[in-house]
Amino acid sequence: MIQINHLHKQYKGLNAVKDLSLTLEAGDIFGFIGPNGAGKTTTIKMLATLLKPTSGTAFIDGIDVIEQPEAVRGRIGYMPAFFGIYDDMRVWEYLDFFAGAYRLPKNNRPRVIDDVLNLTDLIGKKDNYVEELSTGMKQRLCLAKTLIHDPKVLLLDEPASGLDPRARIEIKELFKELKAMGKTIIISSHILPELADFCNKVGIIERGEMLVSGDVSDIMAQVSGGRTLEIKLMGDDDRAVSLLEGADGVLAARQVNGHLQVDFSGDLEAQADLNKMLIQSGLRVLSFSEQETDLEDIFMKVTKGLVQ
Ligand SMILES: Nc1ncnc2c1ncn2[C@@H]1O[C@H](COP(=O)(O)OP(=O)(O)OP(=O)(O)O)[C@@H](O)[C@H]1O
Ligand SMILES: [Mg+2]
Repeated sequence: MIQINHLHKQYKGLNAVKDLSLTLEAGDIFGFIGPNGAGKTTTIKMLATLLKPTSGTAFIDGIDVIEQPEAVRGRIGYMPAFFGIYDDMRVWEYLDFFAGAYRLPKNNRPRVIDDVLNLTDLIGKKDNYVEELSTGMKQRLCLAKTLIHDPKVLLLDEPASGLDPRARIEIKELFKELKAMGKTIIISSHILPELADFCNKVGIIERGEMLVSGDVSDIMAQVSGGRTLEIKLMGDDDRAVSLLEGADGVLAARQVNGHLQVDFSGDLEAQADLNKMLIQSGLRVLSFSEQETDLEDIFMKVTKGLVQ
């Protein structure tokens, strides 16, 4: 559904995106992760036909974004990181305006508008003025606009930025619904754990370079060479750190928010021995567990150059 080959974008002297290639199948949800200035928006804008690549090609649903931008636009829904909202317009009028821009037949529009308002949980605000909506509601309205022409592919650039924790959870539920509808989605973020639930693929970009990309599970396996242990003790943390630092398989030990965190390269048996050693040294162990690798760990490891 999305095919990117050696995409490159240069702004004057700066290489914002370098030799980026990616293939996504229909129904893939791709988490596009990277720090500020990494090149996420630049890449997404090239796919959205809003920015011409310096070199390379990209196809959406088999259509060349450079050669046939008009045809691509009918198939994509692009939600920019910063979007304009028109004042003095009611919610339904705003959507009707975009429905018209996408040339939806007039007699279909009221039904389609109700559909997207229901999906984004804004139906109760249909007759409100856009400026009366909260930030989170405006974000959902922008998503409703992005869905109005029922695109196969969604390009969502940091759609959860500026939302409170509750609104983030709500919008996540919405993404899961879109996933269930079979949409192919690229979603960018620097808030990584948020993407882990519903992305099946992920790519990490930094300084214009895609450092890793692929199935979430493959990438997790690739970076989980070492595990992180979390140990909670009844006091004595300082002594525990120096004991742990001298133990087999321990790469590093530190105190974090009232517990100990240990980078560990040993196997399960060595892990059990480590626990035993702590207890035999007179430390009182409240809990001893292995931290699950999540996208955040992967991101930290990859961007520190620990994985290629
Ligand atoms: N119009 C432009 N002219 C010149 N340089 C630009 C332009 N737009 C972006 N850049 C540069 O390209 C690089 C990539 O920017 P981009 O906006 O794609 O990053 P991003 O990953 O989306 O970052 P963020 O997480 O902050 O949104 C940055 O170094 C940025 O300064
Ligand atoms: Mg950006």
